[in-house]
Amino acid sequence: MIFLNFWLNMKNNKVGSGRIPYRNVSYLFLLFGIILSACETGSKSANENVQSRLSNKELKYFSHGKQLYTQYCSNCHMENGEGLGTLIPPLKGADYLLDSVAQMARAIKYGIRGPITVNNIEYNQPMPANPDMTSLEIMELLIYISNAWGNESKPVGLQEVEDITGSK
Ligand code: HEC
Repeated sequence: MIFLNFWLNMKNNKVGSGRIPYRNVSYLFLLFGIILSACETGSKSANENVQSRLSNKELKYFSHGKQLYTQYCSNCHMENGEGLGTLIPPLKGADYLLDSVAQMARAIKYGIRGPITVNNIEYNQPMPANPDMTSLEIMELLIYISNAWGNESKPVGLQEVEDITGSK
């Protein structure tokens, strides 16, 4: 669709007449509209996907996890989970996270030190610990980050988080 528009736009340019600037502007608007609606459909389908995959109880954890994420994590990993250049690794589509979601409970509770490789890029900045976070909160965070932004993982259980962090 977008390519068709570019093509039409170019074709119009070639024809050449006094009316073209207006036409071009209207095509630009049309193009912009199409891009916008494509983006919207993308995020909507990711949302609908979560709603159909998770149970009501899991959705509650997911949405509380989102609040915790905004509060404790998004200033580094960003609201969209994409991280920050080579300083902060992404969580969206991150092999390190998605290969062993439950293990990330330890990283959240006790922090991370030393080099790690995420999607073939090496990061080496300390990630701060959250020693006062409860296992329930960590579970909610894990359910959120492993199912947001198109990530898809089986929700981690509370017992698993308690076992991995060694605390309630
Ligand atoms: C001060 C910035 C900062 C904050 C806040 C932060 N992180 Fe991180 N996070 C990092 C850095 C830096 C790394 C990479 C650590 C390294 O290089 O050893 C990392 C790594 C990770 C990883 C493993 C790597 C990956 O991308 O899969 C996960 C999972 C993670 N963070 C989740 C979280 C969650 C959940 C929170 C909120 C509770 C959080 N982080 C808060 C900076 C931060």
